Amino acid sequence: MEKLILELKQRKCEVLIGEGSFKNLKDIIRGKRCFFIIDKIVYERFYSTYLRELIIDLDHDIYLIDCIEKNKNIIMVTEIVKMLSDKGYLRDSILIGIGGGIVGDIVGFVASIYMRGIQFINIPTTILAQVDSSIGGKNAVNISGCKNLIGTFNQPHFVVIDNNFLTSLPKREIISGLAEVLKYGIICEYGFLNYIDKNLIDILNGNINIIREIVKRSCEFKINIISQDEYDTSIRKILNHGHTIGHAIESVTNYSVYTHGEAVIIGMYYECLLALKLNLIDEAYFKFIYEILRRFDIKFDNSILDEDRFYEALLMDKKNKSKKISFIFPISPSKVEEYMFSLDEVRGFKLSNYHF
Ligand code: GLY
Repeated sequence: MEKLILELKQRKCEVLIGEGSFKNLKDIIRGKRCFFIIDKIVYERFYSTYLRELIIDLDHDIYLIDCIEKNKNIIMVTEIVKMLSDKGYLRDSILIGIGGGIVGDIVGFVASIYMRGIQFINIPTTILAQVDSSIGGKNAVNISGCKNLIGTFNQPHFVVIDNNFLTSLPKREIISGLAEVLKYGIICEYGFLNYIDKNLIDILNGNINIIREIVKRSCEFKINIISQDEYDTSIRKILNHGHTIGHAIESVTNYSVYTHGEAVIIGMYYECLLALKLNLIDEAYFKFIYEILRRFDIKFDNSILDEDRFYEALLMDKKNKSKKISFIFPISPSKVEEYMFSLDEVRGFKLSNYHF
């Protein structure tokens, strides 16, 4: 097992990585009361085979979540808060989330408001959550049909990344997580992009040794960025490469056609294409990235890039300023930069002329 330390302004967050790291839970919580928020599917798959023996002796309760985006709302938050209060959980208790990004959002948000804040631990069980959402303290819930409108920055005290949860993940889920992994290759380290390219077949076939390696490297990249910019005011925005267009595609398709990762892969294609058109990168580098992205064989109907709703969604991006839309473009291998464009400028790029 490896331990990575994320140094924050006020304290640190410890990130434990490796098969079986979950077995450290008892040492981490040191007899405190624990309230578990667990993805129902993870519970069904792992409770009797793995989780039960490690949590049975703890003073605890369990709340199960049906992890669909529509449930990530303020009603669920108040239900959990009520349960915590009914059962007498106090500020010295610990919330523990076991699941993917939806669980991480709920547990982080509840932990930031219950009794004005209690400690929490993230135990991510998908590649996406292990390499991105469990680290960095962002959380949010949806309201009035708007995704992630209410949220806080609230850092977990521990992130426990146990690769045992990654066994027999469906291919679509692996691809979704890999989008963020590829992103680190583009924004941080060309050599890492090369490594993924060379090992992609093994990764898609679920080779745990290689997956362990890419998860660890991705966590190191993310920790390095968050330690420089906890509150997303400067360098952290590079994590949004591929996400400006990716989020707009997700929004226009009502979050029901593409997984987040698939939308980000399509977003990375169009954002790299724009970087090429703007002469920020050369043809060879673009082609290298494009060929990796194409290997995921995602079918994309680019007619949505003509719809007004697509441009409206671009305008709603949280990173925008003064009606300018923010994009993170590659400018050379391992390097990206933010560029801002007006809506008319973006329309002028005529994205729908290009097929992914
Ligand atoms: N997932 C992007 C961030 O943590 O800032």
